[in-house]
Amino acid sequence: MSTSASVFRLSRRLENVGFSDIVKIRNKILELRAGGAQVFQFEGGEPFLETPEPIKEAMTRALAENRTRYAPSSGIPELRAAVAEKLRERNRIHAREEDVVVMNGGMQGLFAAFQSVVDPGDEVLVFSPFWTPIRDLIAHCEGKTVLVRSTEARREGFYETLARHATDKTRAVYFNTPQNPTGIVFTREEAEAVARFARERDLVVLADEAYEDLVYEGEHFSIASLEGMFERTITCYTLSKSYAMTGWRMGYAVAAEPWMTGLKKCLLYTTNGVSTPSQWAALAAFGLPADFYESIRRAYRERRDLLVAGLCELGLACDPPAGAFYAFPDVSRVHTDSRAAADILLERARVATVPGVVFGEHGESHLRFSFSTSPETIQAGLDSLRRNL
Ligand SMILES: Cc1ncc(COP(=O)(O)O)c(C=O)c1O
Repeated sequence: MSTSASVFRLSRRLENVGFSDIVKIRNKILELRAGGAQVFQFEGGEPFLETPEPIKEAMTRALAENRTRYAPSSGIPELRAAVAEKLRERNRIHAREEDVVVMNGGMQGLFAAFQSVVDPGDEVLVFSPFWTPIRDLIAHCEGKTVLVRSTEARREGFYETLARHATDKTRAVYFNTPQNPTGIVFTREEAEAVARFARERDLVVLADEAYEDLVYEGEHFSIASLEGMFERTITCYTLSKSYAMTGWRMGYAVAAEPWMTGLKKCLLYTTNGVSTPSQWAALAAFGLPADFYESIRRAYRERRDLLVAGLCELGLACDPPAGAFYAFPDVSRVHTDSRAAADILLERARVATVPGVVFGEHGESHLRFSFSTSPETIQAGLDSLRRNL
């Protein structure tokens, strides 16, 4: 039997899709810890809190009541209705139950959103620095990522900056607020400028509001709530960050047709829905009192202030991030190559961070520090930097 080497190759579509750099950093940390070193971890992307009790109790109940069979692929009606109500009340998005689809975390929603919109050769405008997987999700559609610096847009105007980067191949804008890794929260006026651009150029907006509940300055604003934007926006949400549910893989997306059909097809042929008991548990998240959100924001703000003050004191300048749970200081004083800077911090001070270049070339000379950890860890990490840097 003859076999050809060319058989043993990945599909071309997947060859251009990368793997996460953050996994490599985690492996390095594990190695150091296995050797007995204490590592101050700031590289993560997870809430430090535990999943709230009412959600865990609802999960136990769902299991006891045997709610363990196939659910409708788009989600249980009770959860879709609760999400639609939340979207109307908190996001001002005029969504009905049928405009909502339950997804396995924010990632599956984003995967399905890009698959629903982007054809090979299409360009997507992405505010940058950006959350790394976005370039891979676009590559998976054989589309092209076109980076638009968020700071340039802020300085020179969103409409004008997008216009400079758009071509006749531009199909969509990825609009993430609050932003990972910079913590930028786009204002209503900024969203309006992006919306005007999208309407005039007939573009689709892929909105990612994973950190909507973690805003410390200003207010979260959903671009799909603007006049004429619901029909051209797919908005992706996750329960991972708001409710400390990263491991549950719970999220949802909201969109009109034809996008909803695309989202449903992707969901159907990947996971055929989301775990049924987890959906019943997730329903409890939407019944949490308003002061829950205030209390988590307070806890994160305290950590943010502690970390940012310490970094500035060390000469690692950064503005307090308006949202999410990351500080993104300029670390040129340590090294202008952010991978080298991250290695220096890890080797000398046992402080683990993510090199800014992981978030695209505009992130170079920066490091991402998560402040989603205990104040004691933040303090100890800063002390180690003071002693060893
Ligand atoms: C900007 C952004 N969007 C979406 C997600 C997706 O989160 P998950 O798939 O855990 O729901 C993340 C997670 O880190 C994120 O940072």
